[in-house]
Amino acid sequence: MKLENFIRGILRKKGLIPFSAFMSLALYHEKWGYYSKNPGTEDYYTNVDVHPIFSEILARFFAETLKKNFAGESVSIVELGPGPGKLAGNILSWIEQNETELFQRLKYVAVEKSAARKSAILEKAKKFQGRLTAQNNLPASVTGVIFSNEFFDALPFERVRMKGGKLKEIWVDENFSEVEQDAREPILKFFEWLGEYPQEGCEAEVPWSSKEWMTKIGRCLRKGIVLTIDYGYEARELFSELRPSGTALCHFRHSTNRDFYQNIGEQDITAHANFSVLIKEGEKWGLSSEKLVSQSRFVLDHGFEDAVRSLEQTQDIKMRLKLSSAIKTLVHPEGMGGTFKALLQKKA
Ligand SMILES: C[S@@+](CC[C@H](N)C(=O)[O-])C[C@H]1O[C@@H](n2cnc3c(N)ncnc32)[C@H](O)[C@@H]1O
Repeated sequence: MKLENFIRGILRKKGLIPFSAFMSLALYHEKWGYYSKNPGTEDYYTNVDVHPIFSEILARFFAETLKKNFAGESVSIVELGPGPGKLAGNILSWIEQNETELFQRLKYVAVEKSAARKSAILEKAKKFQGRLTAQNNLPASVTGVIFSNEFFDALPFERVRMKGGKLKEIWVDENFSEVEQDAREPILKFFEWLGEYPQEGCEAEVPWSSKEWMTKIGRCLRKGIVLTIDYGYEARELFSELRPSGTALCHFRHSTNRDFYQNIGEQDITAHANFSVLIKEGEKWGLSSEKLVSQSRFVLDHGFEDAVRSLEQTQDIKMRLKLSSAIKTLVHPEGMGGTFKALLQKKA
């Protein structure tokens, strides 16, 4: 309620605000925003929560990449939006136990905006001899890996509708009602740049922040790879007539809704990642797209079977059941394996 009243106050003063401004406040207000609360209260369940096997596959993949391309050099793994740092802790532990030489020349930088999540990361950092740090922004220069799991879907976006061949933007008024306005010049330029448009009568999201983050990534990566894991599509598929309302959605207590103005600060607001934006902006900064594949394909190509075999040796029946359920969720095309994708970009 406090956040709702705070936003109402802003709306009264300003009259109207763009949807992205409302979303930034609802998710990232520093005291009451959804992501500012203590970790553990989330309504989302990511790959990281399914089973540690997901972290192990990433750890193996990063270790192989770093050893092959940067033998003997100081290198970094930078994770965007790590939340409380579960994946960071798992990946570093695996490297510490299995790749001691690499561990000694590795820095793991967690780029996290939420103060509550950052303190959870710093708590985990205590056991990694200064190898794990947390900060708000990307380092000035990175050699190695920049990656994220469900980061881009959590960034604020604008919403637009195509009406009579013209793009209309959705703004929010003081009654939390949506008001259509002619799209501003930068939005028109964005679609011109992308080269794809929503279909007549359909809604779509404008992921400005994703483009901005890709610019920052492209600028700071000297040499190495960028791995993005998220649910999403390329623009043409995203804007197909199968999605007339776009993909913007709220998650509240493990169910979904499209009432963005209820449970303000208590519910998550997300949209599918637009991989075309990441690919196109990446290219501008010398990042070539190596592959965009389903998460199933990615984990199967990167040691999933080896990791399962080593875990299967356990005699503990509960652990075996957990593993078999994780395999279904992470790999099955109808589970996260099918809806999630992995985009791998490279700067040589
Ligand atoms: C959906 S959560 C994913 C958390 C974690 N990666 C996982 O898979 O469980 C998105 C995370 O991105 C963080 N985030 C959002 N915008 C950010 C920004 N501009 N800078 C840094 N972190 C950000 C949020 O605070 C949140 O922890």
